[in-house]
Amino acid sequence: MDAIQIYGGNRLEGQTKVQGSKNAVLPILAATLLINGTCEIKNCPVISDVHHMLRLMESLCCKIERSGHTIRIYTGQLFGHDMPCNMPSDSVCVMRSSIMLLGALLARTGRVDMQYPGGCVIGKRPIDLHLKGLRKMGVVIEEREDGFLAETKGLIGAEHKLPFVSVGATENLVLAAVLAKGDTVIENAAREPEICALCDFLNQAGARIEGAGTSRILIRGVEKLHEVSYEVPADRIVAGTYLAACLCCGGEIYLKDAPCSQMTAVNVAAASMGAEVYEGSDGLQIVCKDKRKMPERLRTDSYPGFPTDLQSAFLTAMTMAEGRGTMEETIFENRFHIVGQLQKMGAKIICKENTVSVEGIERLKGNILQAEELRGGAALVLAGSAADGSSIVENRHFIERGYENICQDLRDLGVRCETMEYSGRV
Ligand code: EPZ
Repeated sequence: MDAIQIYGGNRLEGQTKVQGSKNAVLPILAATLLINGTCEIKNCPVISDVHHMLRLMESLCCKIERSGHTIRIYTGQLFGHDMPCNMPSDSVCVMRSSIMLLGALLARTGRVDMQYPGGCVIGKRPIDLHLKGLRKMGVVIEEREDGFLAETKGLIGAEHKLPFVSVGATENLVLAAVLAKGDTVIENAAREPEICALCDFLNQAGARIEGAGTSRILIRGVEKLHEVSYEVPADRIVAGTYLAACLCCGGEIYLKDAPCSQMTAVNVAAASMGAEVYEGSDGLQIVCKDKRKMPERLRTDSYPGFPTDLQSAFLTAMTMAEGRGTMEETIFENRFHIVGQLQKMGAKIICKENTVSVEGIERLKGNILQAEELRGGAALVLAGSAADGSSIVENRHFIERGYENICQDLRDLGVRCETMEYSGRV
């Protein structure tokens, strides 16, 4: 069993460097399919979601060279002949983000046959908005039991009004629109920093996109894009995870390269719990001296609101804060998986539909815990770091989807933890 062992109770002290952003690099990798030539992506995190995406791209005849955090992608083979793009179903199912490739592949080859990307424990993760938007852009999509065949004789610009904010749908429609005939407008577009990074990459490659980061994005179709070298911004969710570690354990840490300007809602939530948060010249300093205060009510929302991806980490910190509070999850329908695990550690949490009520306790007690998904798994490592005694978090592979080396990062900050393989009950 792949696991992480943690010996809890240390106050945090130290500095760690924040890795490149998983949720920025995945759509940017998809965007390289639109460019005939070689693109260089720097500060790319070494995580399994990127590994799967690169494998998927290799199965689509891309040539990939990786050295450390820099990737060079050659897409020449994708051009010049009409090749149906069947993505290997094992990678598509393992890798929800394979759906990001759809818009770009349609723009490049005009035909994509793929399985529905799997849902996951946090929600069904449907792709209806993606398919509806692409249909408006001249794509004929024949759905079947396990997947669909999408074909187009040429993408055309369209007006989209998204009924609710969707990061992935916004990204896919941008990718489909950059080489389409005519203009595309996306109303109620997602405003996440990852959308800005994608549009920044595409504009550097010659696209004409305005309004990234606002809820109205205009994309004027162009004939072609050119090669580009791009540096992936730091991961605001990884930075927020380690900020939450300081909320859980107390202490004083520095997060080098943390994208402070993208963390306002997170910093406000941390301050409401008694943390002092200071923007440094090249990162973020967090000081948690006294016992944490309980935020009366935390609620996830689309950007610039409090990010759903930090809900589990902050919920963990709330279990040891003074008083009572609630956390409301408004983005995914099933994202409180760690409640049962935290209750095993003594946390007082009551779950009612999409809201949990927490009564803070003095300390969590170490236990053997099961990670079931990426951000919940990372939150359980934080819980173990703050708990009395030792803990084991099983299924480390979920965490490795998005964190390059959570153990090393937390050890930099004073946590005693290590990866381990073990056969079950110790
Ligand atoms: C992206 O997922 C992120 N993943 C998620 O991060 C993040 O939690 C999410 O955005 C919200 O910020 C990547 O960027 C790779 P959505 P995405 O489309 O694009 C529903 C992590 O831990 N919906 O904004 O899949 C959907 O079910 C991951 O790094 C539809 O109903 O999220 C959800 O309830 C987890 N139909 C809501 O919208 C659709 O066609 C928001 O989803 C699309 C989405």
